[in-house]
Amino acid sequence: MKPTVAPFPSMRFRRMRQSPALRALSGQNRLTVEDLIWPIFVMDGKDDETPIPSMSGVTRKTVDRAVTAAKEAHTLGIPAICIFPYTSMEARTEDCAMAWNPNNVSNRAIRAIKDAVPDIAIMTDIALDPYNINGHDGFVDDGEIVNDRTVEALVKMAIAQAEAGADILGPSDMMDGRIGAIRSALESNGHQNVTILSYTAKYASSFYGPFRDAVGASSALTGDKNTYQMDPANSDEALRLVERDLMEGADMVMVKPGMPYLDICRRVKDSFGVPTYAYQVSGEYAMLMAAVQNGWLDGDKVIAESLLCFKRAGCDGILTYFAPRVAKALNG
Ligand code: PBG
Repeated sequence: MKPTVAPFPSMRFRRMRQSPALRALSGQNRLTVEDLIWPIFVMDGKDDETPIPSMSGVTRKTVDRAVTAAKEAHTLGIPAICIFPYTSMEARTEDCAMAWNPNNVSNRAIRAIKDAVPDIAIMTDIALDPYNINGHDGFVDDGEIVNDRTVEALVKMAIAQAEAGADILGPSDMMDGRIGAIRSALESNGHQNVTILSYTAKYASSFYGPFRDAVGASSALTGDKNTYQMDPANSDEALRLVERDLMEGADMVMVKPGMPYLDICRRVKDSFGVPTYAYQVSGEYAMLMAAVQNGWLDGDKVIAESLLCFKRAGCDGILTYFAPRVAKALNG
C-alpha cells in the first residue's frame, strides 16, 4: 500500500500531533501490561534474595520469594513469568543430570508458583548451561558441542518441566531438531496442551553477559557459543529457522536479543504472521539502567519507548526484566 500525501498546505502532519487527544486517536501501536513476560532468577534457600551486580534492581530469589514475585506479577496483570535457575557449582556436572531432576530448583519453583498463582502462565528455559560444568547449552565431547545426544537430554528436561506444571516451554539451546523431538515427547506423554515458545532466532550475542553472571555461568563457560547460536550478520537464516520450528511444532517464536534485532522481528512477523516475541536481554537492561542511574536518560520514558518499539516491529510480546516496573507505570 502506497501512502498518499497531499501537497502542503492541504496536508500538515502537525495537525494530527497537536494534542494528546489527537495523538491518542492516531497512535498505531500500544504497549500494554498484557504484552509482558517477566524473567526471574531462582535459587536454593529460604526467604532470601541476592542482587546481581551487573543487573541493578534484579535479584536471584529463593522459591518462596519467587512465589511472592509471581503473585505481584499476577496482581499487576502480567500474563507470564519465565523461570531461570541459578545452580551451585556442585550441581553442575558433565552429565548435566540435574537438568531433568524433578526436584531441581526450577521445577520446584514451577510447582510452587502453579500452586499459589494458578492463573499466571509459567515459562521455562530448556538448555543445559545452568547444569553443565563447562557452561555450554549442550554436551561437550572433545571440544565439540554435540547435537543429537543433547536433544535427548533436552527432551527429558522438557518432560520434567511439563510434569511440574509449566505452561510454556522455552528451548533456548539452538540444537537442531529439538522442537520436533520435544513436541512428539509431549504428545506421547499426555502433555498435548503444553506450548512451546522456541528461541528460534537466537544470536551468538555479547549482550548476554549480565545474564551469565546472574546464573553463574560466566566463569564456567569455556569458549563461545558460535557453533550453535546464530551469526549476528545473518537475516535470511532466521526465516528458515522460523519455518523449521513451526513445521516441528512450535506455537510461538522468539527473536533474541531484542533492540539491535528489530529488523529480524519485522521480517519474521511479515513472513509468517505467527505469535512473535522478542527478548530484551540482560545486556540491553544493563545498558539502559546504567544510563538511567547516571541521570543520562529518563528511566520510565526510555523503558516505555524501548518496549513500544518492539510492538512497532511486529512483536506480540516482550520478555523484559523491566516488566514489573513498566506494568506499574502503565497501571498508573
Ligand atoms: C541460556 C540462556 C541465555 C539467555 C537465556 N537463556 C544465555 C546464553 O545463551 O548464553 C540470555 C538471557 C539474557 O541475556 O537476558 N541458554
